[in-house]
Amino acid sequence: MIERTFDEYRRLFEEHLMDFIPDIDQKSITLYDSMRYSLTAGGKRIRPVLLMAACEFCGGKAEEALPYACAIEYIHTYSLIHDDMPCMDDDELRRGVPTNHMVYGDAVATLAGDGLQSAAYEAMQRDMLLYFDNFDALKSRIRAAYEIVKGAGVTGMVAGQIADVEAENKRCSKELLDYIHITKTADMIIGAVRAGARLGSCSDEELENLTVYAENLGLAFQVCDDILDVEGDQDLLGKETGHDEANSKATYPALYGLDESKKKLRELTDAAKEALAEYYDNAELFVSLAEMLASRVY
Ligand code: FPP
Ligand code: MG
Repeated sequence: MIERTFDEYRRLFEEHLMDFIPDIDQKSITLYDSMRYSLTAGGKRIRPVLLMAACEFCGGKAEEALPYACAIEYIHTYSLIHDDMPCMDDDELRRGVPTNHMVYGDAVATLAGDGLQSAAYEAMQRDMLLYFDNFDALKSRIRAAYEIVKGAGVTGMVAGQIADVEAENKRCSKELLDYIHITKTADMIIGAVRAGARLGSCSDEELENLTVYAENLGLAFQVCDDILDVEGDQDLLGKETGHDEANSKATYPALYGLDESKKKLRELTDAAKEALAEYYDNAELFVSLAEMLASRVY
């Protein structure tokens, strides 16, 4: 049962954000500083909140999900650091502050991303080591970690990123655009929700309904991101807009136009909400999150 609001989950998460970064030797302190710089720069914390809320929705405890909530935010933050680098999207502003490589340089930013990724795996593996004498708890943790790693991996986010990079300055089919958006963005959202569900020992039906919710929310999320890059407020977003068009990126507005993209965002948001309609008020956090994200555009 979901007992907290989005902001309460976010606060709980942020209190523990740095807990799973290993103690780093003083000689490598720049690595720690650069990782912390991007982790603490802000961010909406959507993936960890979704993970913790899904865990409680299915009967688990948010506190027990913290290593996995932190892991997914570490992976997400690594992906932003690398995505912003000159060899990828070449952005100077993120989460309202200069991007990691602008402050620390390309070499350190690359390693900060690498470090965050390995810290994510370490956080999850270390948690699993605590449950060797409780096979059911261990099984749900192994399953949760797999959901996260799969969403982040070479058939998920990384696959989407290479397709995104290779689609620049080229004609992109609608099918390829969906593939990019689903893998690069939705798969991490799906991973967050399914990992939380696994940690909460979900039923098959809960897992199925939450997955349909996350698939629609995930795609809506990237369509929204595309629209905001065209007409969003730079100060509110904390990053420069107009980059997609300048870099000839494959986006929804580029292929369908703004009006059609907004219609698609509405349809996806409604479908996300509909997937959890049978849970009425119990799914309020998920429903209002979908609406809140869409309202950044409307
Ligand atoms: C913004 O998330 C991020 C996206 C919409 C996803 C874009 C995909 C990538 C950057 C993948 C990059 C992959 C690699 C392997 C480099 P958000 O709005 O939740 O950001 P916030 O955490 O700052 O709020
Ligand atoms: Mg990108």
